Amino acid sequence: MKKDLVSILDLSQKEITELFAIAKKVKKEVKKGKYRGCFNQQTLAMIFEKPSLRTRVSFETGFTQLGGHAIYLGPKDISLGARESVPDIARNLDRMVNIIMARTFSHKSIVDLAKYSKVPVINALSDAEHPCQVLADFLTIDEHKGKTKKLKFAFLGAGNNMSHSLMLISSLMGTDFYIGVAKGYEPQDYYVQKSRELGKKSGSKIVITNDPNEAAKNADVIYTDVWASMGEEAEKEARAKAFKEYQVNMKLFKQAKKDALFMHCLPAHRGEEVTDDVIDSKNSVVFDEAENRLHAQKAVMLRLLGAE
Ligand code: CP
Ligand code: NVA
Repeated sequence: MKKDLVSILDLSQKEITELFAIAKKVKKEVKKGKYRGCFNQQTLAMIFEKPSLRTRVSFETGFTQLGGHAIYLGPKDISLGARESVPDIARNLDRMVNIIMARTFSHKSIVDLAKYSKVPVINALSDAEHPCQVLADFLTIDEHKGKTKKLKFAFLGAGNNMSHSLMLISSLMGTDFYIGVAKGYEPQDYYVQKSRELGKKSGSKIVITNDPNEAAKNADVIYTDVWASMGEEAEKEARAKAFKEYQVNMKLFKQAKKDALFMHCLPAHRGEEVTDDVIDSKNSVVFDEAENRLHAQKAVMLRLLGAE
Protein backbone atom coordinates (compact mmCIF):
# COMPACT_ATOMS: atom_id res chain seq x y z
CA MET A 1 0.00 0.00 0.00
CA LYS A 2 1.17 3.56 -0.71
CA LYS A 3 2.24 5.86 2.16
CA ASP A 4 -1.05 7.84 2.10
CA LEU A 5 -4.76 7.45 1.36
CA VAL A 6 -5.53 10.70 -0.46
CA SER A 7 -7.77 9.23 -3.16
CA ILE A 8 -9.41 5.84 -3.51
CA LEU A 9 -7.16 5.67 -6.61
CA ASP A 10 -4.26 5.12 -4.20
CA LEU A 11 -5.60 1.58 -3.78
CA SER A 12 -5.82 -1.35 -6.18
CA GLN A 13 -8.71 -3.82 -6.30
CA LYS A 14 -6.46 -6.33 -4.52
CA GLU A 15 -5.58 -3.88 -1.74
CA ILE A 16 -9.24 -2.98 -1.21
CA THR A 17 -10.13 -6.68 -0.94
CA GLU A 18 -7.32 -7.13 1.60
CA LEU A 19 -8.54 -4.13 3.60
CA PHE A 20 -12.03 -5.67 3.74
CA ALA A 21 -10.56 -8.92 5.08
CA ILE A 22 -8.66 -7.01 7.80
CA ALA A 23 -11.74 -4.92 8.64
CA LYS A 24 -13.90 -8.05 9.05
CA LYS A 25 -11.24 -9.68 11.25
CA VAL A 26 -10.86 -6.59 13.43
CA LYS A 27 -14.63 -6.21 13.68
CA LYS A 28 -14.84 -9.75 15.08
CA GLU A 29 -11.73 -9.87 17.21
CA VAL A 30 -11.43 -6.40 18.72
CA LYS A 31 -13.90 -7.34 21.45
CA LYS A 32 -11.59 -10.17 22.54
CA GLY A 33 -8.85 -7.58 23.02
CA LYS A 34 -6.64 -8.94 20.23
CA TYR A 35 -5.78 -5.55 18.75
CA ARG A 36 -5.87 -3.55 21.96
CA GLY A 37 -2.18 -2.61 22.17
CA CYS A 38 -1.45 -2.16 18.45
CA PHE A 39 -1.12 1.62 18.52
CA ASN A 40 0.31 1.88 22.03
CA GLN A 41 2.09 5.24 22.56
CA GLN A 42 1.05 6.41 19.07
CA THR A 43 -0.80 9.61 18.19
CA LEU A 44 -3.27 10.46 15.44
CA ALA A 45 -3.68 14.16 14.53
CA MET A 46 -7.18 14.95 13.23
CA ILE A 47 -7.46 18.17 11.20
CA PHE A 48 -11.01 19.44 10.59
CA GLU A 49 -11.91 22.48 8.46
CA LYS A 50 -15.56 21.34 8.37
CA PRO A 51 -18.05 19.84 10.85
CA SER A 52 -18.37 16.09 11.44
CA LEU A 53 -20.18 13.48 13.49
CA ARG A 54 -19.20 10.08 12.04
CA THR A 55 -15.68 10.90 10.87
CA ARG A 56 -14.48 12.43 14.10
CA VAL A 57 -16.08 9.80 16.32
CA SER A 58 -15.03 6.80 14.21
CA PHE A 59 -11.40 7.93 13.85
CA GLU A 60 -11.00 8.95 17.48
CA THR A 61 -12.79 5.87 18.83
CA GLY A 62 -11.02 3.54 16.41
CA PHE A 63 -7.53 4.81 17.23
CA THR A 64 -8.27 4.75 20.98
CA GLN A 65 -9.67 1.20 20.83
CA LEU A 66 -6.38 0.07 19.29
CA GLY A 67 -4.38 1.62 22.13
CA GLY A 68 -3.45 5.02 20.66
CA HIS A 69 -4.34 8.64 21.36
CA ALA A 70 -6.10 11.06 18.98
CA ILE A 71 -5.93 14.88 18.98
CA TYR A 72 -8.76 16.95 17.48
CA LEU A 73 -7.60 20.10 15.68
CA GLY A 74 -10.66 22.14 14.71
CA PRO A 75 -10.94 25.06 12.28
CA LYS A 76 -10.08 27.62 14.96
CA ASP A 77 -7.08 25.68 16.28
CA ILE A 78 -4.74 25.72 13.31
CA SER A 79 -6.49 27.65 10.48
CA LEU A 80 -5.02 25.57 7.68
CA GLY A 81 -3.13 27.82 5.27
CA ALA A 82 -4.06 31.07 7.07
CA ARG A 83 -2.19 30.98 10.39
CA GLU A 84 0.46 28.75 8.85
CA SER A 85 1.10 27.19 5.43
CA VAL A 86 -0.04 23.65 4.72
CA PRO A 87 3.55 22.39 4.06
CA ASP A 88 4.72 23.88 7.38
CA ILE A 89 1.83 22.26 9.25
CA ALA A 90 2.79 18.90 7.73
CA ARG A 91 6.48 19.39 8.61
CA ASN A 92 5.62 20.24 12.23
CA LEU A 93 3.10 17.50 12.80
CA ASP A 94 5.26 14.72 11.39
CA ARG A 95 7.89 15.44 14.07
CA MET A 96 5.32 14.72 16.78
CA VAL A 97 2.59 12.36 15.62
CA ASN A 98 2.49 8.97 13.88
CA ILE A 99 -0.39 9.54 11.47
CA ILE A 100 -2.58 12.43 10.26
CA MET A 101 -6.15 12.59 8.98
CA ALA A 102 -7.62 15.71 7.42
CA ARG A 103 -11.03 17.01 6.38
CA THR A 104 -10.57 20.06 4.17
CA PHE A 105 -12.30 22.26 1.65
CA SER A 106 -9.62 22.12 -1.03
CA HIS A 107 -8.44 18.67 -2.14
CA LYS A 108 -5.01 20.23 -2.77
CA SER A 109 -4.59 20.83 0.97
CA ILE A 110 -4.66 17.05 1.53
CA VAL A 111 -2.39 16.41 -1.46
CA ASP A 112 0.11 18.91 0.03
CA LEU A 113 -0.17 17.53 3.56
CA ALA A 114 0.72 14.11 2.15
CA LYS A 115 3.52 15.53 0.02
CA TYR A 116 5.25 17.35 2.88
CA SER A 117 4.57 14.93 5.75
CA LYS A 118 6.81 11.95 6.41
CA VAL A 119 3.99 10.17 8.25
CA PRO A 120 0.86 8.78 6.52
CA VAL A 121 -1.97 11.18 5.67
CA ILE A 122 -5.59 10.04 5.27
CA ASN A 123 -8.24 12.01 3.37
CA ALA A 124 -11.26 12.26 5.67
CA LEU A 125 -13.26 14.24 3.03
CA SER A 126 -12.25 17.01 0.68
CA ASP A 127 -14.37 18.89 -1.85
CA ALA A 128 -13.30 16.29 -4.43
CA GLU A 129 -13.31 12.90 -2.67
CA HIS A 130 -14.30 10.88 0.41
CA PRO A 131 -12.32 7.61 0.19
CA CYS A 132 -12.89 6.40 3.78
CA GLN A 133 -16.65 6.61 3.35
CA VAL A 134 -16.67 4.54 0.17
CA LEU A 135 -14.47 1.85 1.74
CA ALA A 136 -17.06 1.55 4.53
CA ASP A 137 -19.85 1.57 1.92
CA PHE A 138 -18.40 -1.23 -0.20
CA LEU A 139 -17.60 -3.24 2.93
CA THR A 140 -21.30 -2.87 3.79
CA ILE A 141 -22.33 -4.00 0.30
CA ASP A 142 -20.00 -7.00 0.62
CA GLU A 143 -21.58 -7.95 3.95
CA HIS A 144 -25.14 -7.66 2.64
CA LYS A 145 -24.75 -8.96 -0.92
CA GLY A 146 -21.80 -11.31 -0.45
CA LYS A 147 -20.00 -9.57 -3.32
CA THR A 148 -19.06 -6.17 -4.70
CA LYS A 149 -18.66 -7.15 -8.37
CA LYS A 150 -21.19 -7.19 -11.21
CA LEU A 151 -23.83 -5.14 -9.42
CA LYS A 152 -25.76 -2.13 -10.64
CA PHE A 153 -24.93 0.78 -8.35
CA ALA A 154 -27.12 3.87 -8.79
CA PHE A 155 -26.26 7.26 -7.30
CA LEU A 156 -29.02 9.89 -7.35
CA GLY A 157 -27.65 13.37 -6.76
CA ALA A 158 -24.90 15.80 -7.59
CA GLY A 159 -21.46 15.23 -9.06
CA ASN A 160 -19.69 15.77 -5.73
CA ASN A 161 -17.05 14.23 -3.46
CA MET A 162 -19.25 11.19 -2.73
CA SER A 163 -20.20 10.46 -6.33
CA HIS A 164 -16.58 10.86 -7.45
CA SER A 165 -15.26 8.34 -4.92
CA LEU A 166 -18.19 5.95 -5.44
CA MET A 167 -17.68 6.04 -9.20
CA LEU A 168 -13.97 5.29 -8.77
CA ILE A 169 -14.45 2.41 -6.32
CA SER A 170 -17.21 0.92 -8.52
CA SER A 171 -14.87 0.93 -11.50
CA LEU A 172 -12.05 -0.58 -9.42
CA MET A 173 -14.27 -3.35 -8.07
CA GLY A 174 -16.03 -4.20 -11.36
CA THR A 175 -19.50 -2.84 -10.61
CA ASP A 176 -21.63 -0.79 -13.02
CA PHE A 177 -22.06 2.80 -11.84
CA TYR A 178 -25.01 4.94 -12.90
CA ILE A 179 -25.47 8.52 -11.78
CA GLY A 180 -28.86 10.20 -12.17
CA VAL A 181 -27.93 13.87 -12.03
CA ALA A 182 -29.53 17.23 -12.86
CA LYS A 183 -28.13 19.04 -15.94
CA GLY A 184 -25.17 21.23 -15.06
CA TYR A 185 -24.26 19.30 -11.90
CA GLU A 186 -22.50 16.32 -13.51
CA PRO A 187 -19.33 14.82 -11.99
CA GLN A 188 -15.97 16.30 -13.01
CA ASP A 189 -14.53 14.97 -16.29
CA TYR A 190 -11.31 13.80 -14.61
CA TYR A 191 -13.25 11.33 -12.43
CA VAL A 192 -15.44 10.14 -15.28
CA GLN A 193 -12.44 9.51 -17.56
CA LYS A 194 -10.44 7.76 -14.81
CA SER A 195 -13.40 5.55 -13.94
CA ARG A 196 -14.01 4.64 -17.58
CA GLU A 197 -10.32 3.72 -17.99
CA LEU A 198 -10.43 1.50 -14.90
CA GLY A 199 -13.77 0.09 -15.95
CA LYS A 200 -12.26 -1.26 -19.19
CA LYS A 201 -10.03 -3.47 -17.06
CA SER A 202 -12.55 -4.50 -14.41
CA GLY A 203 -15.57 -4.82 -16.71
CA SER A 204 -17.61 -2.02 -15.15
CA LYS A 205 -19.75 0.46 -17.05
CA ILE A 206 -20.03 4.17 -16.12
CA VAL A 207 -23.30 5.85 -17.14
CA ILE A 208 -24.07 9.54 -16.62
CA THR A 209 -27.75 10.27 -17.18
CA ASN A 210 -30.16 13.12 -16.48
CA ASP A 211 -32.98 10.57 -16.19
CA PRO A 212 -33.41 9.42 -12.56
CA ASN A 213 -35.49 6.41 -13.68
CA GLU A 214 -32.78 5.11 -16.01
CA ALA A 215 -30.35 5.19 -13.08
CA ALA A 216 -32.71 3.52 -10.59
CA LYS A 217 -34.16 0.81 -12.85
CA ASN A 218 -33.18 -2.70 -11.65
CA ALA A 219 -30.43 -1.33 -9.42
CA ASP A 220 -28.90 -3.47 -6.67
CA VAL A 221 -27.98 -0.37 -4.68
CA ILE A 222 -29.58 3.07 -4.57
CA TYR A 223 -27.36 5.70 -2.98
CA THR A 224 -27.98 9.37 -2.37
CA ASP A 225 -26.31 12.31 -0.62
CA VAL A 226 -27.24 15.88 0.29
CA TRP A 227 -27.79 18.07 -2.76
CA ALA A 228 -25.70 20.94 -1.34
CA SER A 229 -22.46 19.81 0.31
CA MET A 230 -20.61 21.56 3.13
CA GLY A 231 -19.35 24.80 1.62
CA GLU A 232 -22.17 24.98 -0.97
CA GLU A 233 -24.81 26.36 1.43
CA ALA A 234 -25.36 29.46 -0.75
CA GLU A 235 -26.56 27.18 -3.59
CA LYS A 236 -29.03 25.28 -1.38
CA GLU A 237 -32.19 26.71 -2.95
CA ALA A 238 -31.06 26.47 -6.56
CA ARG A 239 -29.96 22.88 -6.01
CA ALA A 240 -33.22 21.94 -4.25
CA LYS A 241 -35.08 23.10 -7.36
CA ALA A 242 -32.74 21.37 -9.81
CA PHE A 243 -32.79 18.03 -7.95
CA LYS A 244 -36.52 17.81 -7.12
CA GLU A 245 -37.07 14.95 -9.57
CA TYR A 246 -34.08 13.05 -8.19
CA GLN A 247 -35.47 12.60 -4.66
CA VAL A 248 -35.24 8.96 -3.53
CA ASN A 249 -38.87 8.39 -2.52
CA MET A 250 -40.73 5.06 -2.52
CA LYS A 251 -41.88 5.51 -6.11
CA LEU A 252 -38.31 5.87 -7.35
CA PHE A 253 -36.90 3.27 -4.96
CA LYS A 254 -39.44 0.68 -6.17
CA GLN A 255 -37.85 0.80 -9.63
CA ALA A 256 -34.80 -0.90 -8.18
CA LYS A 257 -34.61 -4.65 -7.52
CA LYS A 258 -36.80 -5.93 -4.69
CA ASP A 259 -33.81 -6.66 -2.48
CA ALA A 260 -31.97 -3.43 -3.37
CA LEU A 261 -30.03 -1.71 -0.61
CA PHE A 262 -30.69 1.92 0.23
CA MET A 263 -27.48 3.73 1.17
CA HIS A 264 -26.50 7.24 2.28
CA CYS A 265 -23.23 8.51 3.71
CA LEU A 266 -25.20 10.68 6.18
CA PRO A 267 -26.02 13.27 7.40
CA ALA A 268 -29.38 12.90 5.59
CA HIS A 269 -31.69 15.80 4.89
CA ARG A 270 -34.94 13.89 5.30
CA GLY A 271 -37.69 15.14 3.00
CA GLU A 272 -35.12 16.50 0.54
CA GLU A 273 -32.87 13.90 -1.15
CA VAL A 274 -34.60 10.99 0.64
CA THR A 275 -38.00 10.40 2.24
CA ASP A 276 -38.52 8.83 5.69
CA ASP A 277 -40.22 5.71 4.30
CA VAL A 278 -37.12 4.85 2.24
CA ILE A 279 -34.40 5.65 4.77
CA ASP A 280 -36.36 3.89 7.54
CA SER A 281 -37.28 0.88 5.38
CA LYS A 282 -35.93 -2.65 5.85
CA ASN A 283 -33.78 -2.16 2.75
CA SER A 284 -31.90 0.72 4.34
CA VAL A 285 -28.37 -0.03 5.62
CA VAL A 286 -27.35 3.52 6.49
CA PHE A 287 -26.37 2.78 10.10
CA ASP A 288 -24.34 -0.28 9.02
CA GLU A 289 -22.40 2.07 6.75
CA ALA A 290 -21.83 4.44 9.68
CA GLU A 291 -20.57 1.62 11.93
CA ASN A 292 -18.34 0.28 9.18
CA ARG A 293 -16.45 3.58 9.09
CA LEU A 294 -14.93 2.41 12.36
CA HIS A 295 -13.84 -0.99 11.03
CA ALA A 296 -12.73 0.11 7.55
CA GLN A 297 -10.61 2.96 8.94
CA LYS A 298 -9.01 0.68 11.53
CA ALA A 299 -7.98 -1.58 8.65
CA VAL A 300 -6.54 1.41 6.74
CA MET A 301 -4.58 2.66 9.78
CA LEU A 302 -3.30 -0.83 10.66
CA ARG A 303 -2.00 -1.17 7.10
CA LEU A 304 -0.51 2.34 6.87
CA LEU A 305 1.27 1.90 10.20
CA GLY A 306 2.55 -1.55 9.24
CA ALA A 307 0.66 -3.44 11.94
CA GLU A 308 -1.16 -5.69 9.44
N1 CP B 1 -20.41 10.53 6.45
C1 CP B 1 -19.61 11.39 7.09
O1 CP B 1 -18.44 11.62 6.74
O2 CP B 1 -20.21 11.97 8.19
P1 CP B 1 -19.68 13.23 9.00
O3 CP B 1 -19.68 14.40 8.07
O4 CP B 1 -20.62 13.39 10.15
O5 CP B 1 -18.27 12.93 9.47
N1 NVA C 1 -21.25 15.56 0.07
C1 NVA C 1 -21.32 15.73 1.51
C2 NVA C 1 -20.82 14.51 2.22
C3 NVA C 1 -20.90 14.56 3.72
C4 NVA C 1 -20.34 13.34 4.38
C5 NVA C 1 -20.54 16.98 1.91
O1 NVA C 1 -19.43 17.16 1.44
O2 NVA C 1 -21.07 17.77 2.70
